[in-house]
Amino acid sequence: MKGKKIIVGISGGIASYKSAQLVRLFVQADVLTRVAMTQNATRFITPLTFEALSGNRVIHDMFDREGTSIEHISWGQEADLIIIAPATANIIAKMANGIADDFLSTMVIAATAKILICPSMNNRMFMNPALKHNLSLLKERGMTVMEPGEGELACHTEGPGRLPEPADIFEQALILLTEQDLKGLNILVTAGPTAEPIDPVRYITNRSSGKMGYALARAARRRGASVTLVSGPTSLKPPFGVKFRSVKTTEDMMRSVFDNRPDTDIIIKAAAVSDYRPRESASRKIKKKSDSLSLELIKNPDILAQLGSTKKDFPCLLVGFAAETEDLLANAREKLRTKNLDMIVANDISRNDAGFETDTNVVKLIYVDGKVEDLPLMTKDEVADLIIDRLKSLKENNNT
Ligand code: PMT
Repeated sequence: MKGKKIIVGISGGIASYKSAQLVRLFVQADVLTRVAMTQNATRFITPLTFEALSGNRVIHDMFDREGTSIEHISWGQEADLIIIAPATANIIAKMANGIADDFLSTMVIAATAKILICPSMNNRMFMNPALKHNLSLLKERGMTVMEPGEGELACHTEGPGRLPEPADIFEQALILLTEQDLKGLNILVTAGPTAEPIDPVRYITNRSSGKMGYALARAARRRGASVTLVSGPTSLKPPFGVKFRSVKTTEDMMRSVFDNRPDTDIIIKAAAVSDYRPRESASRKIKKKSDSLSLELIKNPDILAQLGSTKKDFPCLLVGFAAETEDLLANAREKLRTKNLDMIVANDISRNDAGFETDTNVVKLIYVDGKVEDLPLMTKDEVADLIIDRLKSLKENNNT
């Protein structure tokens, strides 16, 4: 994203206050962000807010010129992406019909940048056939239109028409700005812990936050893959644009993984799966009667090992993680071999800047030919992107 140039075009809707958050997200990602507003938008939120957030001049008046540059032409040609958020019925109609009667609509009509439209309006306006027709015209012309959210609207009605969440608009923008080099690939990622019930209120679980697996799902989706994320219980929001399958126990996870396995090209098992579960889960809360309590644990199925042992029936790249506190390389190599994997990510969880819960990770990538790639400390997003790079190369080599 660094070095990219975007324009956020704001038209006059109540959701324009959410565009402040959107601009902030781009600025935080080091994206050069400019804002263009319609005159109506300035009645909902001031240009000063966006000038402060973006650090750049905001244009809302066609004749408010700086120097001799023709900004309604140059802005849309210099940008990589224009995001209209919120896009009212009026700006959508103007764009569909080539009307250019203010700075925003004139800049858009002359633009060579990609355009992302984020509609936001009353639900009846959104259902109007003229609006639907205008949106389909814009899609036909190659613009991307995000579906509005559903729920209670500012006008106290219910239905479709809410501006998509700024984080989701940001993610959609990233997809549009990223090379779609994984298009056509189906990738399944598992993430988070599993939780094995003891009784209706207690369970056995582990410290996995899901951050590593969610980062992998996000990275693959951004690069154009169709991604299914099977996740144990975490506090994370499912990444935008992935098929999300929520599971609790190891057996749930195994069912979901096997259900989604056909047609999958790559399976990445970042989840921290419980190796054992209580033999019985009490149907009522266990009472505090004695000084000690024994739980009998039985072994859970090993999902990854079962995927590996049946790989010839469902050919795909199989990637495991090995979370180890000691003998990292030896233990990871053993898992790579016994589970019939194509690559294993050895995760040293003895460090406090790697493994569970952290935003960073330190891993080694181990391949079937014995090669080991030792990676430095990186954010989990960076690790994810690098793993996806390596899997893309493995996939290309497998197919040649
Ligand atoms: O979620 P975070 O807080 O970001 O933390 C990330 C992580 C530390 C959980 C992740 O990077 C990681 O290392 N995940 C694997 C943890 C683990 O369970 O490792 P393992 O060595 O026990 O298992 C080896 C592999 O077999 C793993 O791919 C695991 O998903 C799989 N497995 C294990 C047991 C089992 N019954 N079924 C499995 O499929």
